[in-house]
Amino acid sequence: MDAAYLSEWANLLLRWLHLITGIAWIGTSFYFIGLDNQLDPAKDGNPRVAGEQWSVHGGGFYHKQKYLVAPERLPEKLHWFKWEAYWTWISGFSLFVLIYWGQAGTYLVDPGVIDMPAWAAVLISAALLAGGWVGYDLVCRSKLGDDEVKLGAIGAAALAVVAFISCHVFGGRGAFLQVGAMTGTIMAANVAMVIIPGQKRMVAAMQKGEPPDAQDGRWAKQRSVHNTYLTLPVIFIMISPHYPMTYQSRWNWVVLLAIGLSGALVRQYFVLRQKGKNAVWLPAAATAVVALLIWTGAPKATHGDLADVPAFAEVQTIVATRCVACHAARPTMDGFAAPPKGVMFETPSQIRRWAAALRQQVQTEAMPPGNMTDITEEERAKLLAWVAAGAPAD
Ligand code: HEC
Repeated sequence: MDAAYLSEWANLLLRWLHLITGIAWIGTSFYFIGLDNQLDPAKDGNPRVAGEQWSVHGGGFYHKQKYLVAPERLPEKLHWFKWEAYWTWISGFSLFVLIYWGQAGTYLVDPGVIDMPAWAAVLISAALLAGGWVGYDLVCRSKLGDDEVKLGAIGAAALAVVAFISCHVFGGRGAFLQVGAMTGTIMAANVAMVIIPGQKRMVAAMQKGEPPDAQDGRWAKQRSVHNTYLTLPVIFIMISPHYPMTYQSRWNWVVLLAIGLSGALVRQYFVLRQKGKNAVWLPAAATAVVALLIWTGAPKATHGDLADVPAFAEVQTIVATRCVACHAARPTMDGFAAPPKGVMFETPSQIRRWAAALRQQVQTEAMPPGNMTDITEEERAKLLAWVAAGAPAD
């Protein structure tokens, strides 16, 4: 079995795992943030109970109580929530390594942005990943960490800088995923390095009969709140590879930030709603941001408007030289075992069948990736003019 074939399977299985564990993680995260926001003052008189909630689900009634800092005695069995976070990161990082580091020449490097060897791109990517967490953690632990507003402003500014750098070093698609991987790493590290160790210290103190340190609880809360606002932006980034009009835009780093911001606004709307406030201006603002993006990002004069409609034979020649190395039943390009996304351009009927998808990819310059096959502007214009004319067979 050849390596490219196995790598496709690894890609699929890791992605599946990543989705499953990610859903489990985000589910618990949303659930507990919602629970915290909806706690009512406790009625049973235990001064350690800070709040409680009654709910009904799945045919049963639940009565939850939150202790601050902790109950008098630990129960025999305590449920922890960490493996969904760890496995989301493990599967996501493996996927990132498999695709974006393993094929850095295709997915990270774009000679139109910066032409660099694949290993250099991997080094920069790794340095950004590690540096992102270290920087974030230091700021949270500093004095600034006590001031939520300042911390939020610094976080947003840092994200802007990272998005700018990433989009000016890597190809758009790789740049987006780089920012997503950095954010996901911060979220998982929040669990592994701050939340869980803090909770372990709290439990250990109680087992020794000492009061747990309330600061551990506050830090854990702070990081879990950060995670909740990062969730929606990260999910957008993870689906963005399907939409070249976002990552191929000339202002792609602004698009990344704007959509990330609208995700955070929507999340904030739900957080406030859980607290009983109906801040409709938040989703309205998010909608306005996205509408502005759609309006400003609309393609103006496209390449296609500039060219005469070429003969189909010419289209076939362009596609054969610029696309078929990858988009064939048996790709000749190194590292490809099967036609990417099942898209093939070997026969006239295949070319016509995929004409609309071809237009999208060629217009946004998402294909060929990093222009590996050196398609010219004129050839792009011809392909687009042909699709605009209804993809005639002649
Ligand atoms: C170096 C290999 C390579 C070359 C050359 C190449 N592509 Fe692709 N193409 C890919 C890969 C990889 C994907 C899958 C991207 C992904 O994972 O989303 C893809 C996906 C596509 C898709 C499907 C997009 C989607 O998300 O459904 C279309 C359409 C496409 N390419 C068109 C073209 C056209 C047109 C050309 C030539 C102008 C071309 N490609 C040249 C590698 C290539």
